[in-house]
Amino acid sequence: MTQTIHVSIAWPYPNGDPHAGHLVGCLLPGDIFARYHRLKGNRVVMVSGSDTHGTPILVTAMNEGLTPRQAIEKYHRRFLEVQQQLGISFDLYTHTDTENHHKIAQDFFLKLLERGMLYPDKQQLLYDEEAARFLPDRFVEGECPICHHPKARGDQCDNCQHLLDAIQLINPISKLTGSTPVVRETEHYFLDLPKFQDRLREYYQSGKDDWRPHVINFARKMVDDIKSRPITRDIDWGVPVPLDGWEGKCLYVWFEAVMGYFTATIEWARNTGQPEAWRDWWYNPDAKVYNFLGKDNIPFHTIIWQAELMGASGIYADDPDLPLNLPYDVPANEYMNILGSKFSKSEHRAIWLPDLLERYDPDSIRYYFIAVMPETRDSEFTWEDFVARNNNELVAWWGNLVNRVLQFANKYWDGSVPDPVELRPADEELLARVEAGFQSVGDLLEAVKLRGALGEALNLAREVNVYLDSAPWFGVVKADKQAAATTVYTALQAIDHLATLLSPFLPFTTQKLYETLGYDGQLFGDLNIVTYQEETRPHEALVYDGTQAIGRWEPRRLPPGQKMRQPAPLYKKLDEKVIEEELARTAAGG
Ligand code: MF3
Ligand code: ZN
Repeated sequence: MTQTIHVSIAWPYPNGDPHAGHLVGCLLPGDIFARYHRLKGNRVVMVSGSDTHGTPILVTAMNEGLTPRQAIEKYHRRFLEVQQQLGISFDLYTHTDTENHHKIAQDFFLKLLERGMLYPDKQQLLYDEEAARFLPDRFVEGECPICHHPKARGDQCDNCQHLLDAIQLINPISKLTGSTPVVRETEHYFLDLPKFQDRLREYYQSGKDDWRPHVINFARKMVDDIKSRPITRDIDWGVPVPLDGWEGKCLYVWFEAVMGYFTATIEWARNTGQPEAWRDWWYNPDAKVYNFLGKDNIPFHTIIWQAELMGASGIYADDPDLPLNLPYDVPANEYMNILGSKFSKSEHRAIWLPDLLERYDPDSIRYYFIAVMPETRDSEFTWEDFVARNNNELVAWWGNLVNRVLQFANKYWDGSVPDPVELRPADEELLARVEAGFQSVGDLLEAVKLRGALGEALNLAREVNVYLDSAPWFGVVKADKQAAATTVYTALQAIDHLATLLSPFLPFTTQKLYETLGYDGQLFGDLNIVTYQEETRPHEALVYDGTQAIGRWEPRRLPPGQKMRQPAPLYKKLDEKVIEEELARTAAGG
């Protein structure tokens, strides 16, 4: 049965270049998952975009002497380019500064308000007298009242992931002027989260034992002391509060950014000429929504977004109670540490993607970050490991296998797939094992165990190597060419299956291999950067065009006699000196 799958990927702030954390945390996992489901013939929509509002953008604009809009256009463009180069196959990667997003976010707000799930209240907030303004969220830093991390931000502590109110910070300091803020009263809307406590508890009970333990445990614990949260801010860059008398205040960036999963689906539907299609993902109870994110985003994707969806049921529908789909799974990743500790721009401990793409091929980059994906615990990026895994795994187990067999076939059968005539038991056995990979690798992918899925596929490649160690081929090609033909055919057929099994992970090189094996067409569709014109302004987006894709998640028979194309190595072995060079570059600040 065809499934309907929503791949929701956390929206990065366009406040700097894309880095490895974005890739390993959510871009790659979402992409692999989406590609797999497309190959299965399922209906997939994968969306995200740049999260363009709030203090993160204002701080960047301030530091770079740009207007907020200039800043987001600059970095949004970088995200589009990098994702295109790395093959992150968004059906739509947009941003939140669109008229579509603003309008729908305001409608969500009004719906929640009308139902009594929002209420206004006075709030004591930190105020910078020098700058003459309130200090929401990232405009202030101080010691975390929970874990005592010295650099917690006004909205959240990056060390313990707890959501904070800026006023709870110990020794707060204004990021704007470096002064110590004072407390002042202001008025804001609050999301009445306690009203959702029972429904959230119910939601965490059904089917959630399959969730990653660190995600569900965090959510179940947080819901026990759930409290209302302010969802508006004294800030003029964002989605304006749609009420008279609230001029100069905007919706809290997190409150509206998560809605982007919904608003981008609507934008996608409209852009593809099927304006009602979004309903199949948000109102069809059989559709499954998967949220991909890093662990610092867990509270917003396990509590707040769910509450908003529950509270906005029936939005744009005839039945006011029609439930919106809640996330089916939230496979958050943990952190990947860089060179011994947490990613830090200021301490030059970051791996920038534009930089990596200048020197390495996209599939080598993808391979490494999947192999060390922090699915269940933090992982570690080192250049030694990058080089070692490229050379000892990707090249040794898979690249060399492909190269050896293709070169040999090219030489002795004049570039055509040899005819096996009749398979021997060992050949049948190998092919049966590799074909079983469609089930075993598929099961792991479906369970979002991506690292394991890649490992399983590569194990099958190693089985082909083992098979070739004892099967008759280059030693007998002169004396018994038919025996060698049967072996080479079997290996080519296995490689053909492996090309499909590996294609969600390594889309560029498997496409090349597919062509080398003599097929025509594309396993996947193209990714294009396009410009959409809204009412008053244009915006750029990344768009997946799947109409050309022919890939299928199933064994296919490689036709004997098929004319192949000239083989060339799929991957490059990296020189050990790369390690020193990269370390020197990192130390020099990029
Ligand atoms: N911009 C946020 C971050 O980088 C993530 C927002 S995810 C969204 O941490 F769903 F809210 F958009
Ligand atoms: Zn903390």
